[in-house]
Amino acid sequence: MPSDSERLKREKMKLIDLHTHILPGFDDGPETAAESIEMARAYVEAGYAAVVATPHVIPGVYEHTRTSILRGVRRLEQHLHDAGIPLSVLPGAEYHLTDRLVPLLREGELLTLNDTGKYLLVELPWVDVPPYASQILFELLLAGVTPVIAHPERNGFFAGRPKALSELCARGICAQVTAGALTGLFGRTQKRAAEQFIKQETAQFVATDAHGPGRRLEAGAQVQAQASRLLGAAAQALLYANPALVTSGASLEAAACREAAPKRSSWFDSIRRKQQKS
Ligand SMILES: [Fe+2]
Repeated sequence: MPSDSERLKREKMKLIDLHTHILPGFDDGPETAAESIEMARAYVEAGYAAVVATPHVIPGVYEHTRTSILRGVRRLEQHLHDAGIPLSVLPGAEYHLTDRLVPLLREGELLTLNDTGKYLLVELPWVDVPPYASQILFELLLAGVTPVIAHPERNGFFAGRPKALSELCARGICAQVTAGALTGLFGRTQKRAAEQFIKQETAQFVATDAHGPGRRLEAGAQVQAQASRLLGAAAQALLYANPALVTSGASLEAAACREAAPKRSSWFDSIRRKQQKS
């Protein structure tokens, strides 16, 4: 009997990690090129063919620009080429949600996942969803960029209100759960929330959010090996098909989410109305 990971690979798509902190000296990931190379080796051993480098972009903390990230990706690719490591590194970023996102988009300064102009990885604050979040997410959508909410299972608001993520999904916003959350690395509450998002089809991707070659990346391999048990029927889409669509800038099939759109007014609409009045 082939393992889940063997079977999924045979069905045949490259395994791409959409969320990783692999660029050296950019954030709280690896500090040196040697550490990034070690991390890349671990990715290849774990079965990945490509990763999207998504360094944190947080005003006042990690002030990276589109240009500096693209340059960092090119440098790392050269290091991996020189070291003979068969891992593609694609450009991206993990943007902290701020009111600068839409102006940056207009200025052509945002770096979307694989720079296709289609999907933007966005990190919300850990505890809550700020009142301005809905406006910014909608404006991105209207501008043709689909926000991908990073690790909603680790946001206290979404973890406690899974329906809130359904409402966002129904409006076309995507979400990425972390492999380590599904394996229990972050605790029981996060595991339960991640499982629920998979079950209710409001998460479209599983990624590692690795910051080194350790446990988060190992969790990525663990999820592949136990894909049927952890991800059910959506395993192929969550691990292979959807990340491939995102990196090629194609549309996801989100019909299930749209059908689940709430009929009644939601917390999201009430936040929007308050903003429109103010
Ligand atoms: Fe991250």
